[in-house]
Amino acid sequence: MTLTDQVPLSTLPSYVEAYAPDIEKVLIPADAIQAKLAEIGERITEDYAGRSLLLVGVLKGAFVVMADLSRYIRLPLEFDFMAVSSYGAATRTSGVVRILKDLDHDIEGRDVLLVEDIVDSGLTLNYLLKNLRGRRPASLEVMALLQKVGLQKVPLDIRYPGFDIPPEFVVGYGLDFAERYRNLPYVATLRPEAYREA
Ligand code: IMP
Repeated sequence: MTLTDQVPLSTLPSYVEAYAPDIEKVLIPADAIQAKLAEIGERITEDYAGRSLLLVGVLKGAFVVMADLSRYIRLPLEFDFMAVSSYGAATRTSGVVRILKDLDHDIEGRDVLLVEDIVDSGLTLNYLLKNLRGRRPASLEVMALLQKVGLQKVPLDIRYPGFDIPPEFVVGYGLDFAERYRNLPYVATLRPEAYREA
């Protein structure tokens, strides 16, 4: 018997049995995320009509939103990724981040859309934008699926915002806690026990 014989295909993406006891509250259901991405994809298709676009994803969290968003954009697309990490607690507030993996391609003269999973303090995004602007792209805009309300330490211009969420730690849809929960199709908070057990 295959997995799809046991679980109807339509329910496959929405349920991970092993995670179920850890979930406290679903903040953004899967269908709301997909509807928002469809709407943003449509706007991007119109805004960049006649041009080709380079999507730059920030690993690891953005891989899910990048994959889904790209399939709502009806334009020629190229993809590239960066991986970053904070220098650590002492320098976190300075917004200095270390580039663990740089882009594979030159972006000079390109239309670039940076795709982020979540903006918390905004320091990571602020650093990345400064860094990428220095490479002289033709244009540089940001799509961020989630933005925590009231926590931004720097003013940010997010051209394609997804959802505002309360300043709580969230998982799912690419976001992890201890590398788990990234494959949940929704965004949720965790029960306190889930942190203790990890
Ligand atoms: P910022 O520099 O404070 O805006 O933090 C951005 C990064 O921190 C994101 O790209 C995530 O990797 C991580 N992060 C911030 N908040 C959360 C959360 O609620 N869940 C999971 N990861 C988070």
